Amino acid sequence: MKQKILIQNGRVFMPSTDLVTEVFIEDGKITAIGPDLLKSCTPDETIDAHGLYVLPGGIDAHTHMELPFMGTYSSDDFESGTLAGLYGGTTSIIDFAIQTKGESLTSCVNQWHEKARSKAVADYAFHVAVTDYNEKVGQEIPEIIQAGVPSFKAFMAYKGSLMIDDKGLSSLLETAARHGGLVSVHAENGDVIDALVAQFKAEGKMAPQYHALAHPASAEEEAAGRAMDLALAAGAELYIVHTTCRGVLELAAAKSRRGQRIFVETCPQYLLLDDSCYLEPDFGGAKYVMSPPIRKKEDQEALWQGIESGLVQVVGTDHCPFNMVGQKDRGRDDFSKIPNGAPGIENRLEVCFSEGVKKNRISMRRFVEVMCSNPAEIFGLSQKGAIRMGADADLVLFDPEEKHTLSVKTHHQHVDYNTYEGLEVTGRVKTVISNGAVAIRDGRADQIEKGRGRFISRQSRRTSCQE
Ligand code: URP
Ligand code: ZN
Ligand code: ZN
Repeated sequence: MKQKILIQNGRVFMPSTDLVTEVFIEDGKITAIGPDLLKSCTPDETIDAHGLYVLPGGIDAHTHMELPFMGTYSSDDFESGTLAGLYGGTTSIIDFAIQTKGESLTSCVNQWHEKARSKAVADYAFHVAVTDYNEKVGQEIPEIIQAGVPSFKAFMAYKGSLMIDDKGLSSLLETAARHGGLVSVHAENGDVIDALVAQFKAEGKMAPQYHALAHPASAEEEAAGRAMDLALAAGAELYIVHTTCRGVLELAAAKSRRGQRIFVETCPQYLLLDDSCYLEPDFGGAKYVMSPPIRKKEDQEALWQGIESGLVQVVGTDHCPFNMVGQKDRGRDDFSKIPNGAPGIENRLEVCFSEGVKKNRISMRRFVEVMCSNPAEIFGLSQKGAIRMGADADLVLFDPEEKHTLSVKTHHQHVDYNTYEGLEVTGRVKTVISNGAVAIRDGRADQIEKGRGRFISRQSRRTSCQE
């Protein structure tokens, strides 16, 4: 139920300033910002945010809910995944609808609508991953953009299932750009990876750590550089998802200096963890089997610096959870059978605030940009990502001082481990307003009706950039 809510005494983070003031919301929109709003507004409810930050609702531009992948399904569906997101201050997601070979893009997107429609408890949009590019699929691209899905993904790895070749990628880049769509790439060289996987297996090296060794940073750098060159040739902008390493940042910086438009995304796991995680005993390294894998400490520092310098514009989670029992353990004797992916939607804001802002690696302004406003701008979520008049009333009341410890015992993600188990964080999501209603109040679910989340139809970049 939408309410008229007045938030008082909080430090409100707006696009160009932050100050202690008031925010009034009604009918799902922010309708007033400023002091003494009780003189002009008649709230049903007043929330005292003294000592709290008032932030725009987080936008996670990279999730995989109920994804069929490597013989199983990611363990959060749109209900449990968006609910976990709300607990963590994420009020909108962009999930990847992934085309199966031979399927039309329209059928693929419709399938994702079916998964999300009656379940999502927060707002959602889709990217579509093109795994089978041909002329017919190319012709569908303007229709898909018209249908509110103006962003695409291409996999340069997962040969035999998701990967498309350079010809397909070039055509996708060119066609999408012509119609105002944005293409993102999973940048890893699929052939190099397959050869290394085969080599390790032939040598009897089957433990989770060999997943990381079979996905070297050089294979990521090569693919990212190739994608940048193909994008330049196609006259297209490029978005690189889940970037892990210094080498890709250096390439992106060099290309950007020459005027190419490249967006770089990273994820909290690459900022916080290093590759020693793969040595966790008792098959524990399987928790971190994802592609690309966790890298070195030097890469973490480069990624934080990339955020602070503005080179890395988005922190998404790549939330793609698989249980250790019954899913990850399919690969107990063979790392190549461990489903790739890890959970994180619930922890994104808190871990990046604690490890980034509190440890002076990034400013609060950059934090709000990479968590909220940049994903909204890049992907055309024009009503979201910023606290301003007329925007959707998606807000997070965040305590910057409260400490707590992350654990599978207390999280809401439907998965039997937490990527950051035992990490003490400073900063806690307290209250979350989603689409004008309190969804989380003091850390507890308030009024959350299944299916209340709305599909957010987006416009092409050409249209949204002209606005
Ligand atoms: O390991 C990962 N990242 N799994 C999810 C699929 C993808 O590549 O984004
Ligand atoms: Zn990927
Ligand atoms: Zn992903």
